Amino acid sequence: MGGIDGHLRLLDQTRLPRAVFEIDCHNIEQVWEAIRSLRVRGAPAIGVAAAYGICLVGKAALGVSPAAFVSAIEAGCDYLATSRPTAVNLFWALQRMRVLAETAADAAHAEEIAVSLLREAKKIQDEDAETCANIGRIGAELLRDGDGVLTHCNAGALATCGDGTALAVIFAAHRAGKRLRVFADETRPLLQGARLTAWELVQYGVPCTILCDGAAAHAMKEGLVQAVITGADRIAANGDAANKIGTYSVALAAAAHGIPFYVAAPQSTFDLSLSGGESIPIEQRPPGEVTGVSWPAPPPELEVFNPAFDVTPARLIRAIICERGLIEPVTAERIASIFATAPGK
Ligand code: MRU
Repeated sequence: MGGIDGHLRLLDQTRLPRAVFEIDCHNIEQVWEAIRSLRVRGAPAIGVAAAYGICLVGKAALGVSPAAFVSAIEAGCDYLATSRPTAVNLFWALQRMRVLAETAADAAHAEEIAVSLLREAKKIQDEDAETCANIGRIGAELLRDGDGVLTHCNAGALATCGDGTALAVIFAAHRAGKRLRVFADETRPLLQGARLTAWELVQYGVPCTILCDGAAAHAMKEGLVQAVITGADRIAANGDAANKIGTYSVALAAAAHGIPFYVAAPQSTFDLSLSGGESIPIEQRPPGEVTGVSWPAPPPELEVFNPAFDVTPARLIRAIICERGLIEPVTAERIASIFATAPGK
């Protein structure tokens, strides 16, 4: 997005890797749809897209009084908050935009607030790029030359404004000369692993093998995997971490094989208002995502269980790789202490 009269251009992730296709969002409804339908996806990227979505609300309300402008921004935040429920980065970014608008409400013109909102959205974007770099630097130390690293879903550049979270760790270790092979779970039903993670790794020149989600435990048993790293969508105060459905199974399998399971996530993914993972809202997605892509098709009229996320309990997580540092052991006390001096939360 250029100036306050601009629009939001997004890479449509639903079409990758077959087509590299960009979509232009000119209003908040288009941003809502892009988030809901996973054209833009991954917790940090959702937050940044929402922040720019609020700038589009501002663009549409430029002619009104500052008070009416702020009301429009507040309504926009409420509306975008309904797009997806699990990734807390969405609500975190919207809250930043809301607070900024409310504190600027005494401005002489709505345009001044609009300029501040755009600056804030760019700041959220830039901070995320820096956060990814720090996560990569901190996490790369955990990987050894020759490791097989399993990941689930996509926590890469597509999901953030930088190198990603889990993939930033892998990219940083790769740049440091460590020879890795990444095992990317295909990640049913929407195949973020096979479509997006594999696409990123191939472009980066990191050796990559994709596998069916159900093959992960077997790959571990066969000695192919020395570490698991995933991203997260929301982490409770005790370290329980929500991530793409299937992550919990991977963590259980890693524990059974004595393989370290790491979560890489920024501070904006922590929801310290929740004491444990049982309070994290789990998005249920349409049945067609499960039935529509398999062949031969399952019998019609079938009941479908399609939760988009699950929660991995803190006890299964060896460490959380955060830009503030390595959180190990994953306990409420360690999490509280690492954020005690942190800005912004
Ligand atoms: O449904 P998605 O594709 O938005 O789910 C994304 C994930 O689960 C990612 O692992 C998570 O958001 C972390 S992205 C850095």
